[in-house]
Amino acid sequence: MGTEPSYLPLLRQIANAECNAEVYLSAWAEATPSEGVRRVIATVALREGEHTKAFQKRICELGYDVTIEEAPQTADRTAIAGAADLTDREKFEKLGLGAPPDPSTPDRWTSFLDDSTIDVATSELLGRFIGEERDSVRMFADCYRALCSDDEPIASTRQTESRLDRIEQMLENLAAKLDLVTGPSAVTEEEFRAGLRRDGFDDEIRISDYEPGVTGELHCHEFSARILVLDGEFILRYEDGPQSYTRGQCCQLDAGTMHAECTGGSSARVLAGLKHRPTT
Ligand SMILES: [Fe+2]
Ligand SMILES: [Fe+2]
Repeated sequence: MGTEPSYLPLLRQIANAECNAEVYLSAWAEATPSEGVRRVIATVALREGEHTKAFQKRICELGYDVTIEEAPQTADRTAIAGAADLTDREKFEKLGLGAPPDPSTPDRWTSFLDDSTIDVATSELLGRFIGEERDSVRMFADCYRALCSDDEPIASTRQTESRLDRIEQMLENLAAKLDLVTGPSAVTEEEFRAGLRRDGFDDEIRISDYEPGVTGELHCHEFSARILVLDGEFILRYEDGPQSYTRGQCCQLDAGTMHAECTGGSSARVLAGLKHRPTT
């Protein structure tokens, strides 16, 4: 046996890396619920396994041995690849696969054929290997892109639903203000208190005094409240703007409605009845 070829470490490194990739990709191919994803992953796993054998064979032909060892990260990558609680898209992301190749920069295989002493048979093997590896990257990128575009309608539906929820909440606030704000002195305190009892807003009845110039922070409560202004001017700032109430005016804040208690230049005395059960 002559001098060891300078490229022998590269061949051993490829044989090992390909074997470890075959392990976790095979676990993924078995776990995926998608036939399309399975085909892609299984094809690449077979390529990896064949590369291991081909490089082991080439190393033997050259008169040397190779030891195949499990890489430290293979167990973690196999656990991700086989996980039942991760989607295929999440597996691509966690394993760092699926990015499209960038033709403007050399890839990790570009330098593999730099060594001008590589023999013809090994050059052929490396050339095929590089071509297949680059094709596997393209297959992964296409598969990942397809999975992302499958998810898009779901994401935009969720966004639309949450936007509609917000609009609905704003409309409810507006309706509450339109329905419940009555003219000055249209509701007396006695009438208001009778209404609190009738409609179940008497879990707790409290009178609060607010100084002038109060600017509260937006917040919400788990309970609903019905409010009558006994004196001064009371301002409720909602997400969509402030609403001012003066003596004799009332309003209702349903549980969960974002608001801030405020006053302007004058103080306010407010009677509130609270209801801890859901309003219907
Ligand atoms: Fe590979
Ligand atoms: Fe409040």
